[in-house]
Amino acid sequence: MMVSALGYVRLRMRDPSEWLRFGEEVLGFVGETADNGSVRLKMDAAPFRYLVEKGDEDRFLAAGWECGDQAQYEHCREALASAGALVGEGGDEDAEQRDVTQLAFAADPSGNAFEIYHGRTGGGGFASPIEGLEFLTDCMGMGHVVLPAQAFEATATFYRNLLGFGLSDELTLPPPAQDAPQQRLTFLHADNPRHHSLGLYNYPAPSGVGHVMAEVHSLDNVGFCLDRVKAAGHPIIATLGRHWNDGMVSFYLLAPGGIPMEVGYDGRQYPDWESFQPTRSSIADIWGHEYHFPS
Ligand SMILES: [Fe+2]
Repeated sequence: MMVSALGYVRLRMRDPSEWLRFGEEVLGFVGETADNGSVRLKMDAAPFRYLVEKGDEDRFLAAGWECGDQAQYEHCREALASAGALVGEGGDEDAEQRDVTQLAFAADPSGNAFEIYHGRTGGGGFASPIEGLEFLTDCMGMGHVVLPAQAFEATATFYRNLLGFGLSDELTLPPPAQDAPQQRLTFLHADNPRHHSLGLYNYPAPSGVGHVMAEVHSLDNVGFCLDRVKAAGHPIIATLGRHWNDGMVSFYLLAPGGIPMEVGYDGRQYPDWESFQPTRSSIADIWGHEYHFPS
């Protein structure tokens, strides 16, 4: 096992200040704006978990995968380089912007850009501006991300073989329309107890990401967030429900710039992956999660 957790995500937004407001007022993050207009949002002691860069489009840019130490980082970097998937090395400015010691840029076989890094520094304490709100992060990282993977098998193999992700669950769902292929999702865990840090989906995602998940400490934290989402007028794209594979009770919303997000609680944790048997599933939800995608 090499990658330890999902450390951060990078977004590009035409108006990062909209994400700052959303992050602070709806999700309960703490934000800061840099001189160049980019926004960093904190949800725990890490320096940030969301980096929102100013640009000419609204989209998901990259997942930032944390490696436990320099040796693991070098191992991953070598594996990516030998597979021809390494895009470049991060410079001092890149490292400084992310508060990491070293980073490299890569892309998976479906074209999703990502970064690997080690040695995250700085950060300090965190107190949500929303009373009683806490996120489940620390060694489990910032949550999980589900990425579009049209080169489905190759992409799952890539993350497992080159970066050491482990298989948690393979989900097959009926086609979304007649003559369309079956929907396939692979859920992979990193070196932390979270059921999955990465999901892969065999359909495209217009914003560059299927969704990003943030986990909170209580069902009330989920419910209060749902109220704030509704009050702020953000579209709910899945009603409250509980997933079959990770047991998460959650809802989905469309964040600014069309980024789908899941806010959940009670996701399963596996402190000992050695004794875990990967599952195959054919239902996404035990109850709820009625999906309404805006046209
Ligand atoms: Fe999810």
